[in-house]
Amino acid sequence: MNPKIITIDGPSGVGKGTIALMVADYLGYNYLDSGSLYRSLALALSEKKIDLTKDIDDIEKNINELEIDFKYDKNGKTSIFVNKIEFTKKIRTEKVAKMASQIAKNAKARKMLEVVQRRYIKAPGLVADGRDMGTKVFNEANIKFFLTASVEKRAERRLNQLKDQGISANLPNLIHELLLRDKADTERTISPLVPANDAILVDTSEFSAAEVFNKIKELVDKNI
Ligand code: DC
Repeated sequence: MNPKIITIDGPSGVGKGTIALMVADYLGYNYLDSGSLYRSLALALSEKKIDLTKDIDDIEKNINELEIDFKYDKNGKTSIFVNKIEFTKKIRTEKVAKMASQIAKNAKARKMLEVVQRRYIKAPGLVADGRDMGTKVFNEANIKFFLTASVEKRAERRLNQLKDQGISANLPNLIHELLLRDKADTERTISPLVPANDAILVDTSEFSAAEVFNKIKELVDKNI
């Protein structure tokens, strides 16, 4: 039987990572945080002094030289390693998020990362979160979700997340950064952030992670 695929897309800070991990854990499925691939790639390239705003001619060579690994511990914590060096914490800054948004406009980079992302399809199933999981990378997914929330709520959640990781930030700056990133993600020509035609929309603004998970769990139980 083919592995089942569940996609969870949505804008920055909507909580899709938290929910996707809860769903993956509930079903015993693999988990893919596609944003962390964009972040790791952007940071690795910028550490090699490659200008992300210019056309990266040898992107293929550069991407092939990068080995991106995820490790999960029993508590659902994910660690990310690029060429065996831990990137977990350093890809979570707003600076890296902005760089990821830049590399996300590069058609060649997206194509290469699509191949990398599809390698995560493994039995019994996969839960993948990102921007174009349901519209592009895993178009054949068995069930697709698109999460939304107001920019204020998303900034608040991001602030708490950063605080937990010991990274300082302030709310007005985060709102500003999120609005810029929403604009870049929705207005880019390739794979813009839009719900798939067959996606189930879930507004999470007024709900806790546990409440959103319960709603999604109900739909997954019925449809998977
Ligand atoms: O989900 P995130 O904040 O970690 O993603 C960082 C950036 O990566 C985001 O602004 C756009 C890009 N991205 C993308 O273009 N497509 C994806 N599937 C995931 C992320």
